[in-house]
Amino acid sequence: MIELFGMKFKNPVFIASGVFEFGLKYKRVSNRVGALFTKGITLKPRTGNPPPRIYETPCGLINTVGLENPGVKEFVKKILPRIKKLKTRIFVNVAGFTKQEFVQIVQEIGNRVDGFELNVSCPNVKEGGVQFGQDPQICGRIVTAVRKKTKLPVIVKLTANFCDPLITAKACVDAGADAIALINTLHAIKFDTTKKKPLIIGGLSGPAIRPFALYCVYRLKALKVPVIGGGGIVSARDAYEFILAGASAITLGSICFRDPYAPLKIIKELKKFMSEQKPRRLN
Ligand SMILES: Cc1cc2nc3c(=O)[nH]c(=O)nc-3n(C[C@H](O)[C@H](O)[C@H](O)COP(=O)(O)O)c2cc1C
Repeated sequence: MIELFGMKFKNPVFIASGVFEFGLKYKRVSNRVGALFTKGITLKPRTGNPPPRIYETPCGLINTVGLENPGVKEFVKKILPRIKKLKTRIFVNVAGFTKQEFVQIVQEIGNRVDGFELNVSCPNVKEGGVQFGQDPQICGRIVTAVRKKTKLPVIVKLTANFCDPLITAKACVDAGADAIALINTLHAIKFDTTKKKPLIIGGLSGPAIRPFALYCVYRLKALKVPVIGGGGIVSARDAYEFILAGASAITLGSICFRDPYAPLKIIKELKKFMSEQKPRRLN
């Protein structure tokens, strides 16, 4: 059992957004994890990008799913009543393309879930498509606007693409964020050498990004709110490293594609790890 921002979680192993959809397919796993971050929910339904959407690299995945989801109204009507029956904490990953969209999505969902994870990695359509997450001031404004509309926990999922997550994290915390989650996928590309053009341009996840993700978590160690760390975790030992770096909880993402039951093993082994080796701060 752990406690973050006054809320109890049965363990510190959470499922990252986008890899378990809404957690309904592998209920046995969803019911055992500390929390589940839903697939990103947008204001309007999205069909996502044409194939190829996922490419396997030697040490991870490049994905460009394009935020396929039913939109917030359909989510609230059809999916939410079903996922609320899961025995885990549910955080909705909110994907706005403008500040106002973040607010509208949060308002539509209201108090029906345990909290929100703001995905600030989306392109800001009002500012020429630059990722919100690269601009600390815009991130702060989004959090301030959402904070006014909900008393539920607000976690901000940061990008580490071309920016220092410590600066954006501080802006989000100053604006009232309850926790920071990181990292989201990193920019990546794969070329089709026959056609001499990109095969896929998307976000890199999996073990390839783990050392960088770990560094980002460590960089936030002085932050006054909990950090939920993830990126390339495939074992309890990896998870424990994130805890040593300062994470209060960890997320499992791409590993769930290879083995959807991996979270069960990691929960069990991490518990053993932590009881055998008391975590201590490294600094
Ligand atoms: C197929 C796929 C879809 C994803 N969809 C989302 C999403 O909708 N919202 C979000 O914030 N992150 C999304 N992510 C990012 C993951 O939640 C996670 O932050 C990232 O994959 C790094 O963790 P990992 O290396 O353990 O996979 C997605 C990742 C993958 C692989």
